[in-house]
Amino acid sequence: MSDHQGLSVPKNLVIERVLSMELVRVTERAAVASARLRGHGNEKAADQAAVDAMRRELNRLPIDGRVVIGEGERDEAPMLYIGEEVGTKHGPKVDIALDPLEGTTLCAKDMPGSIAVIAMAEHGSLLYAPDVYMDKIAIGPGYKKGVVDLDASPADNIHALAKAKGVKPHEITALIMDRPRHAKLIEAVRATGAAIRLITDGDVAGVIHTASALETGIDIYLGIGGAPEGVLAAAALRCVGGQMQGRLILDSEAKVERARKMGVKDPVKKYEMEEMASGDVIVSATGVTDGGLLKGVFFGRDMITTETIVYRSTTGTVRRIYGEHRQFEKFHLD
Ligand code: FBP
Repeated sequence: MSDHQGLSVPKNLVIERVLSMELVRVTERAAVASARLRGHGNEKAADQAAVDAMRRELNRLPIDGRVVIGEGERDEAPMLYIGEEVGTKHGPKVDIALDPLEGTTLCAKDMPGSIAVIAMAEHGSLLYAPDVYMDKIAIGPGYKKGVVDLDASPADNIHALAKAKGVKPHEITALIMDRPRHAKLIEAVRATGAAIRLITDGDVAGVIHTASALETGIDIYLGIGGAPEGVLAAAALRCVGGQMQGRLILDSEAKVERARKMGVKDPVKKYEMEEMASGDVIVSATGVTDGGLLKGVFFGRDMITTETIVYRSTTGTVRRIYGEHRQFEKFHLD
């Protein structure tokens, strides 16, 4: 059996589709909890609120889950740490990658683009990425495999993409994180005539922008961000048949060793998207602050509204779920 991209899918699907909706609830709760602290300048408190809410909701799910990408190692993160078991234990054995509040600074400053995001995957099918940087390149669906490559120059990638899209390079828009480390990359992309949208944080949403190029206007993501974020984004992009490559940046012996302990044998390996997220996977993301991908949480007088996008690899289905929540007490600590 194979999925819509020809990838092999187990005969008995590990992850029932009904779990998609359950995951939506998980990111909705985390998003609402952190959105209450939007614009208050307290990153830690906003993150903690999201972590608490996500963990509480996750533990209600009928899964035998284990966090493989989470808030950090057990000694540095008391909740949703790597290796923590989550769920009721009555259900499929799944791996969980999560970021309860992706873009903590964006939320604290009430700037666009922070989200609550989670991926649930067949056990053993996500790359166990250490908390280091990853060099990434991503494009959306509809292109021949290999049209861009992490090892090609930015100019070659922009020209190849423009040709494949049937447009001039100046009609291409790249999304890059605004960091001093990207100065040369930005210069090289600008030299092609392409436009660049710079973001200050939040590269899970950044990469996912390429999955819906028609709506977001983003053709390509380029640059270095977190490796755990890379795996979350790869999982979402795989569901729609996009393309992504990533390489861990292991620039010290300590990082090489940390990666080795997590199963990384080749420290300079270029990972294909399908190696970062290989099996049956569902990804859900809810907007915390308004952004190019999702609207943020809105607190009305009689209801709270949320917007969530949920991806499922088996079918390639993408759903946008607008939620109106009237039972406010459900969103308080319980
Ligand atoms: P947090 O949500 O943990 O603050 O991460 C935000 C983020 O912008 C990620 O999206 C990105 O991958 C990473 O930080 C980039 O790291 P740096 O700020 O060190 O460039």
